[in-house]
Amino acid sequence: MSTLTQSRAWRAVETHARQLQQASRIAGLFEQDAQRAQRFSAEGAGLYLDYSKQWLTPESVELLVRLADQQGLARWTDRLFGGEPVNSTENRAALHIALRAPRTAVMFEQGRDVVPDVHGVLDRMGAFAQRVRSGEWQGHTGRAITDVVNIGIGGSDLGPRMVCEALKDLADGPRMHFIANVDGTPLAALTRSLDPDTTLWIVTSKTFTTQETMANAQAARRWFLERGREDGIARHFVAVSTNRDEVGKFGIHPDNMFEFWDWVGGRYSLWSAVGLSIVVAIGAQRFGDLLAGAHAMDRHFRTAVPGQNLPVLMALIGIWNTNFLNSATQVIAPYAERLCKLPAWLQQLEMESNGKSVDREGQPVDYRTTPALWGDVGTNAQHAFFQMLHQGTAVHPVDFILPAAPDHELTDQHRMLMANCFAQSAALMRGKSAAEVRAELVARGMDGAELEAAVPHRVFAGNRPSSTILLPRLDPRSLGALLALYEHRAFVQSVVWNINPFDQWGVELGKQLAQSVLQAMDGQAVMLDGSTRQLIDRTR
Ligand code: F6P
Repeated sequence: MSTLTQSRAWRAVETHARQLQQASRIAGLFEQDAQRAQRFSAEGAGLYLDYSKQWLTPESVELLVRLADQQGLARWTDRLFGGEPVNSTENRAALHIALRAPRTAVMFEQGRDVVPDVHGVLDRMGAFAQRVRSGEWQGHTGRAITDVVNIGIGGSDLGPRMVCEALKDLADGPRMHFIANVDGTPLAALTRSLDPDTTLWIVTSKTFTTQETMANAQAARRWFLERGREDGIARHFVAVSTNRDEVGKFGIHPDNMFEFWDWVGGRYSLWSAVGLSIVVAIGAQRFGDLLAGAHAMDRHFRTAVPGQNLPVLMALIGIWNTNFLNSATQVIAPYAERLCKLPAWLQQLEMESNGKSVDREGQPVDYRTTPALWGDVGTNAQHAFFQMLHQGTAVHPVDFILPAAPDHELTDQHRMLMANCFAQSAALMRGKSAAEVRAELVARGMDGAELEAAVPHRVFAGNRPSSTILLPRLDPRSLGALLALYEHRAFVQSVVWNINPFDQWGVELGKQLAQSVLQAMDGQAVMLDGSTRQLIDRTR
């Protein structure tokens, strides 16, 4: 068993959490400290974090910072930024920070400065995207590209898809589409509306062996060849990958391959060539702003003291809620329609990174690691699952995310959006007591048995924690900072939990068994359980 839960720092947080839970409620903490909102706010890379509606005191933060110290946060951060093989099970660095480092930076991986390589690829991406966007890059019949389709899954899909959606208002290139699922429905539907002569396919896969991506890419290739010729492939298919050999076998010319490296984890890759679709959609300059925002957050993470450090604070708050206050899950509620894909990106980031049950040494852990993360945009979510957040039996802390300025002229609606966002976090914290409900109902003329029957349904327990992150507006720079904030939050949590956030062995078994099931479906003799065999027979 791991020694973390027996350690001095862990036990100190545990004891303190017990005492705090007996002695206070969040709303009461505001009454005790007129400066609470300011005390529990921090700024970094243009983002503002208000965590005063979390159930904690200055002592909680101090003890949590001590826990992070005990777990070697400073040492692990040095190792991460130093390009050391922090991904121990694959003996790789996790140097996604180098992908957004300025041209003048120097960052080593295995003794080699990777920044020139990074900028070499960024320059190629920019030049290629410009040719596509301007119409200079033509399809095999000499027509300009009108539609671009990124084929990829997981990290080769979620990041670029989310960013393209978030920055859609800035999109001034060809129409952008994303195909991920091996379910042929979206691809079949999309190809019905596309012209093969004016469509460019970006096949994005770190390994270039992922079953779903290869199946979709082959289908797209066949669809193209129904009208085009083999020598037209070079005008319509480009690849983003680390695997030159497999790209070649697929028939994509090496000149049309945009490379990245094994030290870029899939879920940390949108800043690399995996972001090619973003560059085509919004142009290299705006993609540069996205990288600059992420880099600003990297610098903030590297230099701010823990008590002012957004990723560190958010990570420790998450650990506090999950491990010490026993909250059930983590909710993400962006109050921005354009951030509708953020929860899905974050699910891979946090749950593929920290959804582990053995520590770095391979020992089983006796504490909870990443909570399930879920969410949707406000205000829609208020009319869907917020009922449970307010009155359900379990506590689900919420991250509210709000761009302060709108990117449209409907300012009244933006005021309503903001008001709803702030009101929800206030309501979760305050709740409404039976006495308050009773007084309200009496004022409305209700009394007697009818009144008493109505009261319990209208009571809100309150004391439900949340944080609010304000972006100045939803632009490339702020978005880059926001995404890097969550990347570093996941890293800090992994350090405290002593787990490797950069591997994902948990996805392998299902992949292996899918091969066996396919063989069984082909009639081969494969050892399978009765249920799986029955399902195969039933669908035959
Ligand atoms: O789902 C597992 C996974 O390996 C992810 O980590 C990765 O982002 C995704 O598959 C896609 O992998 P690739 O980019 O190699 O196709």
